[in-house]
Amino acid sequence: MNHKQAAGEKAAGEVNSGMKVGLGTGSTVYYTILELGRRVKEEGLEIIGVPTSEATDKLARELGIPLGELSELEPLDLTIDGADEVNGTLDLIKGGGGAHFREKMVAAASRRLVIVADESKVVPELGPFRLPVEVVPYGWKSTRKRVEGTGCSAVRRERGGEPVRTDNGNYILDCDFGDITEPGALDGKLKSLLGVVETGLFVGMADSVYVAGPDGVRVLRRGTPA
Ligand code: 5RP
Repeated sequence: MNHKQAAGEKAAGEVNSGMKVGLGTGSTVYYTILELGRRVKEEGLEIIGVPTSEATDKLARELGIPLGELSELEPLDLTIDGADEVNGTLDLIKGGGGAHFREKMVAAASRRLVIVADESKVVPELGPFRLPVEVVPYGWKSTRKRVEGTGCSAVRRERGGEPVRTDNGNYILDCDFGDITEPGALDGKLKSLLGVVETGLFVGMADSVYVAGPDGVRVLRRGTPA
């Protein structure tokens, strides 16, 4: 079993019948969703999921997981999601898959946020992974200038020569800040800029992180030394 699968499946154990569950996006939480789909089918697990992306919506529907609207179901009991980086205080960079806006909305509406990751995601300081910032397409170059004015270099995410569009129809700037030592302050600064929709900084949101490595899965909990 690969590490992503180990973390993803183990975290699915946090889900019990009757729960309203936010379903994250990415190749690690994919295994959580597969396991939840299996339990729905084979064990009669009764949950309602809220997907954080079109891709997760499609996957969950294929697996027969009942889905609902965030605004009708909040507060959710739990959200399980992946991350691109996790630091020692469980602050995160997310958005490698471009879904961080919906992921943050769903996480903010959840009583608990559980993250699934492999060891490669655990870092002393956030920053080696370029910070994804979602921006509106209109005037995006002006927005990029404002973003770069906060102390980074930013490139628009592209695939095959075309700009990547989020599920909201927006662009993503991948921003190199070097080490991000004050993620909360940076998040606030970026979000005050005209044209910025949301950043991939999740500060003070994660309650626990399931980290899988060669020795198995360990669980980091907020407020508990690693
Ligand atoms: C998508 C995300 C993902 O959760 C993050 O990129 C981690 O993905 P993976 O588990 O595939 O490494 O934030 O926007």
